[in-house]
Amino acid sequence: MNLGIPKESHPGERRVAASPAAASRFVELGFDVTVEAGAGDGASYPDKAFEAIGAKIGSKEDAFSADVVLKVRAPRDEEDARELDLIREGATLVSYVFPAQNEALVASLQARKITTLAMDCVPRITRAQKVDSLSSMANIAGYRAVIEAANEFGSFFTGQFTAAGKVPPAKVLVIGAGVAGLSAIGAARGLGAIVRAFDTRESVRDQIKSLGGEFLTVEIEESGEGGGGYAKTMSKEFIDAEMALFREQAKEVDIVITTALIPGKPAPKLWLKDMVEAMKPGSVVVDMAAEQGGNCDLTEPGARIVHDGVIVLGYTDMPSRMSTVASDLYGTNLGHLLDELGGAGSFSVDLENDIIRGAIVTHGGEVLWPPPAAPEPSPAAKPAPKSAPEAAPRAAAAVAPKTAGATAAASDGGGFSAKALIGLGLTALWLWLRFGSGADEAMGGGTKSEFLQHVTVFILACFVGWQVIWSVTAALHTPLMSVTNAISGIIVVGGLVLANTEVKDTPAIIGAVAILFATINIVGGFMVTRRMLRMFNK
Ligand code: NAI
Repeated sequence: MNLGIPKESHPGERRVAASPAAASRFVELGFDVTVEAGAGDGASYPDKAFEAIGAKIGSKEDAFSADVVLKVRAPRDEEDARELDLIREGATLVSYVFPAQNEALVASLQARKITTLAMDCVPRITRAQKVDSLSSMANIAGYRAVIEAANEFGSFFTGQFTAAGKVPPAKVLVIGAGVAGLSAIGAARGLGAIVRAFDTRESVRDQIKSLGGEFLTVEIEESGEGGGGYAKTMSKEFIDAEMALFREQAKEVDIVITTALIPGKPAPKLWLKDMVEAMKPGSVVVDMAAEQGGNCDLTEPGARIVHDGVIVLGYTDMPSRMSTVASDLYGTNLGHLLDELGGAGSFSVDLENDIIRGAIVTHGGEVLWPPPAAPEPSPAAKPAPKSAPEAAPRAAAAVAPKTAGATAAASDGGGFSAKALIGLGLTALWLWLRFGSGADEAMGGGTKSEFLQHVTVFILACFVGWQVIWSVTAALHTPLMSVTNAISGIIVVGGLVLANTEVKDTPAIIGAVAILFATINIVGGFMVTRRMLRMFNK
């Protein structure tokens, strides 16, 4: 099966769909890889690096006529680049598509019976994180925003005491602590700045703090959790309080990085003209939401402007400004998607696969986007409001995803109805055993009080376990796992004792079931730990 990587023709785009290292994974998956000559030049990946991993270097036509075409930007259909016509009918295209904003493109892809997988539509579920290129790119963009700010800022980020005098550290304010915002906080702290951050979602407080930032708050108590880890539109009172906070901050901070975004809405205007004017000359505003209209009043998308001595950057191509790493991470995300598609050996578009179903836009001459409503997000660390996700298909919003931690932290605390149902079920079981007439037969020879005692312990353990798992912040699940592994060990011993006693029937069965579940827990725990440790191995 052929796989083509054309050169990106969008003006200013320096990324390529894969680095040689990422493309070597495509070769491992059984694809015959053809890279357009010079495709990697903008990302510092020469043709010979692709040849070294077993790819062929070919023409634009060669790359576009493959069975699977991998791109960063959607294929262009403009006078200077008729890329769409070069893709074979029935081929598979994987790239950013943004179907909500590109209806004409989607119609052309449908007409040509092209199977289109949009990298911007990959669902925001834990399993899909390895495919989630919007997160990879937002992470890069957040870092780059700090670098761009540092480039414009006329002083140090870190404070210095020198013989010539004292230089105070730069003060950085990050508005919006999603993927890009958290990355910006980490980068600014790394350079030694004092970092403050504001977000409407309380759940990011710990993440900001863990990166060394200070979480700013307003007096008004209102949750910004819109469900599924996204933000919701805040009340006027809250925004007014936020504005008052920012007006105060404007006088103090040297650098403002704005990343605030609400799915499916234009970027909220949070850094107004008077705030820019209140900043010291030489200060820098980096508006990462420039493409969605900007968080700053004065932002011009793609441009650098200077207002009253304050520099306002509205660059919309941050990942492309770090094309080497961006191409590598994007290509790695693509490799995982090709894995989901079965590689070259058993390549198939399985619509039962939730990642594929979320990402697919056109297939077999049909438009399959938007996908059916996303399932409920995974249980969370802290209870969140019960409102439904504001914009379930992320593609419609064309926004970036959360980290797993943020997603987990923002989602519902396990669902009241499920909790109540299990609670009721267990209470009913206890009552039946305590007072029910048929309960005696279920005891397999032991005394009723003994059995009841065990069931009571079991029910209490269920409640305690439930509370421990769902009340502990997601970041602590790994250490928690080691504790549960120890508990599972005790359960196995208890189960063995029970299964080995004279008393057969129900207790023996329960003992065997306990051994089974505890073993699954232990083995699963070790597997997850191993996988996590592997992530830290070079
Ligand atoms: P995200 O959805 O993960 O984060 C947005 C954050 O803004 C959320 O944490 C949300 O709670 C917060 N927010 C919403 N309303 C707020 C308010 N009123 N005050 C404070 N915080 C508020 O999005 P992500 O992935 O971090 O992206 C951030 C922005 O950066 C987006 O606009 C995205 O399009 C843009 N971006 C820009 C790039 C560039 O080259 N300029 C590249 C990649 C992303």
